[in-house]
Amino acid sequence: MRTRYIGPVEVSAIGLGGMPMSIEGRPDEARSIATIHAALDAGVTFIDTADAYHLYADDIGHNESLIAKALRTHGGGSDVLVATKGGHLRPGDGSWTVDGSPEHLRRACEASLTRLGVEAIGLYQFHRPDPKVPYADSIGAICDLLDEGKIRMAGISNADQEQIRLANEVLDGRLVSVQNQFSPAFRSSEPELELCHDLGIAFLPWGPLGGSGRAAKLGSRHAPFAQIAEAHGVSPQRVCLAWMSAKSSFVIPIPGCSRPESIQDSAAAAELVLDDAEIALLDAA
Ligand SMILES: NC(=O)c1ccc[n+]([C@@H]2O[C@H](COP(=O)([O-])OP(=O)(O)OC[C@H]3O[C@@H](n4cnc5c(N)ncnc54)[C@H](OP(=O)(O)O)[C@@H]3O)[C@@H](O)[C@H]2O)c1
Repeated sequence: MRTRYIGPVEVSAIGLGGMPMSIEGRPDEARSIATIHAALDAGVTFIDTADAYHLYADDIGHNESLIAKALRTHGGGSDVLVATKGGHLRPGDGSWTVDGSPEHLRRACEASLTRLGVEAIGLYQFHRPDPKVPYADSIGAICDLLDEGKIRMAGISNADQEQIRLANEVLDGRLVSVQNQFSPAFRSSEPELELCHDLGIAFLPWGPLGGSGRAAKLGSRHAPFAQIAEAHGVSPQRVCLAWMSAKSSFVIPIPGCSRPESIQDSAAAAELVLDDAEIALLDAA
């Protein structure tokens, strides 16, 4: 598996997104554990999760617990960087809410530490700006967690260029990652991707295949992806991940998966190299 960097940490060039294993339509635990184990067996050393990846009000952190269990039962998971997030909540009625207050972020981080069973979280990301809380105050809380050693690295998510610059400033230049939506159908985060490249910060595209439940339609909606996939004898999803990975050496897609076959196929995108003409065609698609 080719590798890339998040801060000083070398990780697989394709990560695993844990969300589909814990929200609406989630599979049973055995299939989820098999999916995470398949990722590890394929050489994936970066897993994205969040305390908010759960379904019911009383199963907060479902995905974190699942990942911790899968790593414990695999044996080879000690080199894996687990990235979690705080600041999003799911009250249990299907909605997503936010709380970016420093008090909440501290409590959320402590609970994630317990669920993940670690002394320090590898990468902790502020999930989504909270309009009720000044952005610098939320990031200040993440900065405190970093200074106290509760988290090893700090990231942000769903941030615009101004917020990226502000977060990096509040963190004294220690911002290591930005996780924004980016896919063939959703390209408006391209300026943030470019800014991350210029700053040497990892850019983690979320929903890279169009989002959970919609990824299977990628080929039909974007014919050039299917066309190039056919020429290489691979899936359109693999072409999609290779295409966005070619945009910058700081891009590390995190395709969400709930089946072993999905992550096996997606992980192989790390080895797929597209030529300039193919990339130009996909850029224009
Ligand atoms: N920061 C944020 O606000 C935010 C928001 C949303 C998501 N995320 C993160 O980003 C990750 C990815 O986003 P996402 O899960 O919403 O969407 P996605 O990665 O675009 O799509 C996920 C779906 O793609 C399917 N898939 C994966 N690899 C495939 C392949 N090679 N061939 C065919 N289908 C494939 C999976 O199917 P199966 O389920 O059948 O395996 C899964 O349901 C999430 O898991 C989560 O970690 C972050």
